[in-house]
Amino acid sequence: MERTLISETISSVGKSVRLCGWVNSRRDMGKVIFVDLRDRTGIVQVVMVPAEIPAEQHELMKEIRSEFVLEIQGEVVARNAKSINPNIKTGTVEILAKSIAILNRAKTPPFELDKDTSGINEEVRLKYRYLDLRTERMQKNIRLRDAIITRFRDFLHARQFCEIETPYLTKGTPEGAREFIVPSRLHPGNFYVLPQSPQQFKQLLMVGGMEKYFQIARCFRDEDQRGDRQPEFTQLDMEMSFVEQEDVLQLVEEMMIDMVKATAPEKRIQQIPFPRLTYKEAMEKYNSDKPDLREDKNDPNLLAFCWVIDFPFFEQDGNGGWTFTHNPFSAPQPEYMEQLREKRDVGSILAAQYDIVLNGYEVGGGSIRNHRPEDLKTVFEIMGASEEEIQTQYGHMLEAFEYGAPPHGGIAPGVDRIVMILANEPNIREVIPIPKTGDARDLMMDAPSPLPAKALAEANIRLKA
Ligand code: AMO
Repeated sequence: MERTLISETISSVGKSVRLCGWVNSRRDMGKVIFVDLRDRTGIVQVVMVPAEIPAEQHELMKEIRSEFVLEIQGEVVARNAKSINPNIKTGTVEILAKSIAILNRAKTPPFELDKDTSGINEEVRLKYRYLDLRTERMQKNIRLRDAIITRFRDFLHARQFCEIETPYLTKGTPEGAREFIVPSRLHPGNFYVLPQSPQQFKQLLMVGGMEKYFQIARCFRDEDQRGDRQPEFTQLDMEMSFVEQEDVLQLVEEMMIDMVKATAPEKRIQQIPFPRLTYKEAMEKYNSDKPDLREDKNDPNLLAFCWVIDFPFFEQDGNGGWTFTHNPFSAPQPEYMEQLREKRDVGSILAAQYDIVLNGYEVGGGSIRNHRPEDLKTVFEIMGASEEEIQTQYGHMLEAFEYGAPPHGGIAPGVDRIVMILANEPNIREVIPIPKTGDARDLMMDAPSPLPAKALAEANIRLKA
């Protein structure tokens, strides 16, 4: 018999069905046993009465405990008015079991899975993430994540974007964050690093004539953790050729509105078009470059997007020199191009750099890039890089741009933060299927962990005593 999903039982009154799932809870009333059976679509009450079940299965019935995996064949019956359970979607029906099979037994879980686990010790939840994922809230969060990513993907594909994967084993770039390094076995003394973002690759794809690129990209940053930061996280990374700042802002705004309407219709976007603040205005008015503009911060369904634009290109590096504020590959706003070329009054140059902010979180950042090699080189010179440093760190980019790089720009919304806000969760770990702890450990897999001496030797690594 074909499997019926639990959500389908509501419309199957009078029918024989075969259900598969986990025991959410069980109540033994002596003559009857009630089991709440759970699958990915919900929960339904199964009634087990010995008279209805073959005698050889009576012992099994008594064995059943929470989280056992069961296959039940039975009949869907309508509940009488008095016993309707308004707390579950299938509360108008129940399943009268005719046959039971235990597909697998389960140890008693370290925490209860039929309740919200947000109050449970997080280390325990993360060690047993596969159990935590069975809970209703986590199922909802991970499925919302999938819906959001799917919507973004569909939106971009419908606009002729091409989804392209870029390497994870790559070369280090001083783009801001500390990088994870991977020793090369075949090239002793040499290292790959994991990308902080696909920034350089996506720009090289523009040189490669792809014109409209996106990727659901995993990014790696060896930073100190916070509630809205993980060492590996996901960006919706995008880049386009022949665009100006306004084109990127318009497209992303349309994409965000479309995503909210499709995946979280209960939410209200406070202001459309999204308000735009210059960095200067944001700092003066809110003392923050990611202001929370919500009129009512207690309204769980209110979304206040805004753009922050016109960031200063450079800031003092503390040693009398200059460093970039956001992204060394950004272009200046067009009216500041001459100033950049002349390296004049660099502190006042504004970048074609934009952040998208939602409810006080930076949920994306991007820029129009410097596509002319000499202008890009000027940026590195302003930051005090020697000719040799420029060539070793960025020579490949400068060379590529000499072969007809188109004007281009892009952005990278942070998927985890967007899902966190839409799910009303307090941190991104709640919306990442298998996250790291606050101190960057994976408790389920026990990573990081020591390696056998042989593996270290092969990777040409000798540990400090
Ligand atoms: P940026 O560094 O601003 O830009 O990152 C873009 C967005 O990614 C999210 N984000 C993070 N999310 C979770 N954990 C982290 N550790 C973390 N770090 C960043 C944020 C942020 O807005 N290459 C450029 C993009 C571009 O210019 O196109 C970049 O990576 O939501």
